[in-house]
Amino acid sequence: MHGLDDLLEGMDPARRHRYDLTQRMQKRYFSTRRDKTLGNEITRWIDVTVASLAGPHPEGRILAVIGDPGAGKTRAIKRAMSAVPALEQSTLCVTAPRPCTLKQLGRTFLSAMGYDLHRDLREHLTWEKVRDHLEANRVRFVWVDELQHVLDGKHDAQVAAISDTFKNLVQRRSWPVSFLFSGLPAVSSFLGRDRQIERRSRTLEFGSLSFPASTGLIREVLLSTIVETDGGMGLGDLATDEFVHRLCHATSGALGVVIDLIRSAVLEAAERPTFNGTIQICDFAEAYASERGCEPSENIFLSSRWHEIQPENSRLRQLSAEGA
Ligand SMILES: Nc1ncnc2c1ncn2[C@@H]1O[C@H](COP(=O)(O)OP(=O)(O)O)[C@@H](O)[C@H]1O
Ligand SMILES: [Mg+2]
Repeated sequence: MHGLDDLLEGMDPARRHRYDLTQRMQKRYFSTRRDKTLGNEITRWIDVTVASLAGPHPEGRILAVIGDPGAGKTRAIKRAMSAVPALEQSTLCVTAPRPCTLKQLGRTFLSAMGYDLHRDLREHLTWEKVRDHLEANRVRFVWVDELQHVLDGKHDAQVAAISDTFKNLVQRRSWPVSFLFSGLPAVSSFLGRDRQIERRSRTLEFGSLSFPASTGLIREVLLSTIVETDGGMGLGDLATDEFVHRLCHATSGALGVVIDLIRSAVLEAAERPTFNGTIQICDFAEAYASERGCEPSENIFLSSRWHEIQPENSRLRQLSAEGA
């Protein structure tokens, strides 16, 4: 598996146990109502595309999935796509690099189609090649993840050029293409700025968890499954309303971040010398600190004034203060 056999073989039982635990937690997917909505939207996106391609004025359609970082967009879309093998096979998947110009995005498309440009072509020629290759490879669907990377820091004329490039592909008579765009909420404003694009688009938003509305999901589903079922640990009296509230606050309610933090806390607990079968708030504090690089006084799981602490990444804060 992945050519990592030798490394796996060399693990002592403690490391192997940690590895198995990590695998078990990573594999699990939590299906919520939004997965159902996403599945329906994807079916609809396919159906309107197919109907349009069979009609007199073939053109593509756009589906956008937006949400905060860590909301779970990428994982949910991958999963929804793999449920429709015919779609998965005819979809070109690209992730916009960061930072990214329109030309670099074109090169990313080409590279994903197995065509690496050796020459530095100008932007419009790069996209001409993209159009040719989409048609030659019979690609009808394209998923661009992290689309905001293409929009970041662009002035109006550049954003208009990006939007025109997509519009040309969607409206191209000989070989129209449908897009699935995912990324931060800025993607939605981008689609709204051009009437012709907007008219062909639908947007699905992955909202945030919040306290107290999401208490049931966090306590009864996420904590219980990851800690008790996958981790084989007890929750003791940890899962109070206040703890759930801290967890929501520390993760800004992003579903994937909540899940990842609980997973890291399970691993912290398993390694803690005083561990006696029950996860504790100190394991969450440790997981949070090692991810954010914050002082104990800034740790939402330790501080009594936790609700006043802004859960931004203190490492990032430091970097931007240094002007990096
Ligand atoms: N429904 C889910 N079930 C299990 N894990 C999830 C789920 N949604 C997200 N995750 C995990 O949370 C993390 C962030 O999710 P990701 O899809 O990358 O978020 P986004 O693309 O919105 O930034 C990943 O580790 C992912 O595996
Ligand atoms: Mg993502």
